[in-house]
Amino acid sequence: MIWLESQRNTNSVKVVTIEKVIDETPTVRTLVFSDEFLSKVLPGQFAMVWIPGVNELPMSVMISQEKSKAAFTVRKHGLASTALYSVKPGDQIGVRGPYGNSFTIKQGKLLLVGGGTGLVPLMRLATFLQKTDDVTVIMGSKTKQEVFFEGLANDILKQNKHVVLVVTEDGTYGESGLVTDAMQRLLKENTFDAVYTCGPEKMMRKIVQFAAEKKIYVEASIERMMKCGMGLCGSCCFGEVLACKDGTVFDGQYLLTNKEFGYTHRSKSGIMENY
Ligand SMILES: Cc1cc2nc3c(=O)[nH]c(=O)nc-3n(C[C@H](O)[C@H](O)[C@H](O)COP(=O)(O)OP(=O)(O)OC[C@H]3O[C@@H](n4cnc5c(N)ncnc54)[C@H](O)[C@@H]3O)c2cc1C
Ligand code: FES
Repeated sequence: MIWLESQRNTNSVKVVTIEKVIDETPTVRTLVFSDEFLSKVLPGQFAMVWIPGVNELPMSVMISQEKSKAAFTVRKHGLASTALYSVKPGDQIGVRGPYGNSFTIKQGKLLLVGGGTGLVPLMRLATFLQKTDDVTVIMGSKTKQEVFFEGLANDILKQNKHVVLVVTEDGTYGESGLVTDAMQRLLKENTFDAVYTCGPEKMMRKIVQFAAEKKIYVEASIERMMKCGMGLCGSCCFGEVLACKDGTVFDGQYLLTNKEFGYTHRSKSGIMENY
């Protein structure tokens, strides 16, 4: 895995001002702000985002197509993510990081499979790929109005041979079904040099298994409950490792030995729960 050489103290909070808010879907927004440092993070790295008076949340660092700008793409869910989703241009948030390792950049025929906001680190990854790579992106969402980043993925990959395949669970747009169905179908006729995935852990477990059965190199970015983001509190335990410090990106060979992967996770109070 590659690590970023950092000059800024990654553990101090920097206050940034939101400059632009982009509505991606009725529940997802991208927040753009100026931050030279976060604009250059490696694909898969995340930041801890402080929403004043509410909470601090881990967020994958999204790309911004404007120089020196960084972004987060947030889906409104509970209290903290809804507060972050609701910020307006001119509002301030705190950021610290980047944290975590990053995807290993492979070359050749590559497959990126993402569900929901799991697409965020995969869009960043797409900007790091060689123009000679042949890239297939499978993006999943529940329904047509929750599809986002299709245009962005096509734009990032416009100089590559590429396919962006949208899958909706209710069949209202693109292919009907789950991203795992689309991947299984693709694997019948194609092989890939590497597969990258981020999204719900049960989905990622299947993707890692499918890739491993075909002996394809695979990496997944794991989302666990995170409080410190820097390896101190232990809330992100993932088997014997810490998702924030040892990951968030792990390869298939490791993941298939981790008994928690896709089966159990820890709640906010640390209690083990089934997915
Ligand atoms: C490395 C990483 C990157 C992430 N990137 C994104 C992203 O780009 N966009 C996005 O919308 N979301 C992202 N998330 C998820 C996000 O951090 C929140 O989990 C989610 O927005 C819900 O938070 P909430 O407090 O509003 O919801 P709540 O209703 O309070 O919690 C709902 C569920 O969210 C999860 N959750 C809540 N707080 C945390 C936390 N501190 N750490 C991890 N999970 C938590 C738990 O599973 C919880 O049960 C990421 C999580 C991780 C770990
Ligand atoms: S979030 Fe605290 S150790 Fe990982």
